[in-house]
Amino acid sequence: MKVSGGAVDAVVLVGGKGTRLRPLTLSAPKPMLPTAGVPFLSHLLSRLRAAGITHVVLGTSYRAEVFEEFFGDGAALGLELEYVVEEEPLDTGGAIRNVHERLRADDVVVCNGDILSGADLGALVAAHRTAAADVTLHLQRVADPSRFGSVPTDGTGRVTAFLEKTPNPPTDQINAGCYIFRRSVIESIPAGRRVSVERETFPGLLAAGAHLHGFVDTSYWLDVGTPDAFVRGSADLVRGVAPTAALPGACGDALLLAGATVADGATVTGGATVGAGAVVGAGARVDGSVLFDDVEIGEDAVVEHSVLGRGARVGAGTVLRGVVLGDGARIGARCELLAGARVWPGAELSDGAVRFSSDA
Ligand code: GTP
Repeated sequence: MKVSGGAVDAVVLVGGKGTRLRPLTLSAPKPMLPTAGVPFLSHLLSRLRAAGITHVVLGTSYRAEVFEEFFGDGAALGLELEYVVEEEPLDTGGAIRNVHERLRADDVVVCNGDILSGADLGALVAAHRTAAADVTLHLQRVADPSRFGSVPTDGTGRVTAFLEKTPNPPTDQINAGCYIFRRSVIESIPAGRRVSVERETFPGLLAAGAHLHGFVDTSYWLDVGTPDAFVRGSADLVRGVAPTAALPGACGDALLLAGATVADGATVTGGATVGAGAVVGAGARVDGSVLFDDVEIGEDAVVEHSVLGRGARVGAGTVLRGVVLGDGARIGARCELLAGARVWPGAELSDGAVRFSSDA
């Protein structure tokens, strides 16, 4: 639903280095990685716009310039975009504080820039206003909460604690990386130094008696911070499982961008994306993978659940499963690279007999 009852501003945090997605994030920051044919961030911006939120401030640091080069003033998306650059990364809480001067509305939606989510932003804002909370957190119910810190709430929805990761958490609610802040609360975050919103700001506010409210949700949610999750998120977008209004083509089992070529007898399935100018050779099989622009896949090669950076080349008969190839990497014919293998930009592996199952 659309936000009603007064405008809100949005802040999107996009300044992280994305180390878990290296080597892809050596050439582009995580929110700018091509995902279902557009930069990942486009999907989140499309959801903000669909909720009627138009003033969006991006908190940038790592590779700050590329965001403005691509999105400009946001007019093409129906947005008014502003950019605030941190000379030194200020971490999540410091980044939120750092954009305070640009905010105008009393309520501010703050989102991590690497989350795919179907949460209803209008309902999130409405819950915040009804509760008259200082901060409302989107809390996602997940199947395996032991992989995350958890956030219990009481019968009225008030947050009662922020708990570290434990094998048996008392609740399946986790911090989903999207919040509504009362603007004055942002001003109370210390300025000019690193602050973690998760580890410092929220526990500090709770200890000081602030009203932190939980908006508990079960719709689609994915943090695309790892290669595995990135591949899954992209495939979910292509197949219409993850919500977006930014797809460049119709949803389906695969997305072929302009000038992509798939030879006769090759298959592209599982929500895979074949980038502009990329070529998939005869008899090759590409499943649930992301091929950036100008990738070349040789005949009879198999590429499953992998991300291939721009201009990467894969030789005939090679098998890649759960692999990340940096831009311009070249893998010869008849190689086999398995889950977790990462090949750095421009690296070359010669034909045959190469088999890696860990970082390469
Ligand atoms: P990893 O290095 O792989 O953990 O990724 P990351 O650097 O993106 O860190 P993380 O996933 O924990 O960050 C969550 C969100 O906050 C992402 O959208 C980041 O872009 C953003 N973020 C993290 N640190 C900073 C920072 O210092 N400044 C700004 N502006 N954003 C940040």
